[in-house]
Amino acid sequence: MSTSTVITNIAALVTNDPSLGDNSPLGLVRDAAVVIDGDRVAWTGESSKAPATDNRVDAGGRAVLPGFVDSHSHLLFGGDRTEEFNARMSGRPYSAGGIRTTVAATRAASDAELEAGLTRYLAEALRQGTTTFETKSGYGLTTADEARALRVAARHTDEVTFLGAHIVAPELADDPAAYVALVTGEMLDACAPHARWIDVFCEKGAFDGDQARAVLTAGRAKGLHPRIHANQLSYGPGVQLAVELDAASADHCTHLTDADVDALAAGNTVATLLPGAEFSTRAEWPDARRLVDAGVTVALSTDCNPGSSFTSSVPFCVALAVRDMGMTPDEAVWSATAGGAAALRRDDVGRLAPGAYADLTLLDAPSHVHLAYRPGVPLVSGVWRRGVRVV
Ligand code: NIG
Ligand code: FE
Repeated sequence: MSTSTVITNIAALVTNDPSLGDNSPLGLVRDAAVVIDGDRVAWTGESSKAPATDNRVDAGGRAVLPGFVDSHSHLLFGGDRTEEFNARMSGRPYSAGGIRTTVAATRAASDAELEAGLTRYLAEALRQGTTTFETKSGYGLTTADEARALRVAARHTDEVTFLGAHIVAPELADDPAAYVALVTGEMLDACAPHARWIDVFCEKGAFDGDQARAVLTAGRAKGLHPRIHANQLSYGPGVQLAVELDAASADHCTHLTDADVDALAAGNTVATLLPGAEFSTRAEWPDARRLVDAGVTVALSTDCNPGSSFTSSVPFCVALAVRDMGMTPDEAVWSATAGGAAALRRDDVGRLAPGAYADLTLLDAPSHVHLAYRPGVPLVSGVWRRGVRVV
């Protein structure tokens, strides 16, 4: 028999179950309680109706929400790019080429150094309420370096993505076709056993639509499911390719035509917005309002990486999405939890309803709205992962 615990006296509980509470998409329950049994949620509802349990935790009239689901990060890397950031903030533009700096540092790093970095950024993210995360390779760009990044990642998460097609490896810069052949051949064979997803950076300076299609379809043939870096720095074919290939997610979505928005609205691909990247590259914001109004499922994630978005903070991304991308606080919180789960095609995380994992964040605030209302303030005061209090 597992131990049951009730977290009670919750002023506002975000369940993301619209059959509960106020029947909004957030399924917001006031004066609420959550019952955890083992690693799962057993019950959610009004405090006064909670069933008897072994243990009781008093939330003290504060807010509880599902742990954040960060569905897009790049945490396997060596070095950092402080100088590039500094130069950019002095006026130099961002381009895909900066990735090469991190490729050199990543190749030079030992396995232990790579894993130490990953562990550190994950601990940071956990303290800020992230209980599920995806992470990618993409800074190795040789068969051995990509495979080892994925092996290290797989020790820490099930959501591992092979991004050999991040940029053309520097040693094959003159022969992109040979690099695509490597990524779709020997490198894919070595990497597929360690990954669930395949990704490609479809962008000027990285891979065009035909190359991206070749990478994603080769990955699919090896049992990996597609997701894609699309329409980040310029308009392009990425988003429509994502929908055509039933990718779980098209990520960035900063430059979208009406046809791109229509394709996302008609398809089953989530639009994952990564405002940390626009913040850190001083770029134009993606238009979340336009996507939500068109009926597109939107996720919000950090894109944590040393080049374009060196933040592990989902609360920071929520605040940016509300302030600068037209989202309401409710929408942004939904996108950072249930939206992230949808982008990973998961229904066992991102919601607090019976059967889901007991992954929850307790805020030192009476409402989830404070995540946007009090930007930059460390509001996360408790985190449970798989039913265990970890913060
Ligand atoms: O998601 N867009 C491509 N990849 C990363 C940036 C990588 C880098 O600059 O190191 C991104 O923004
Ligand atoms: Fe990215």
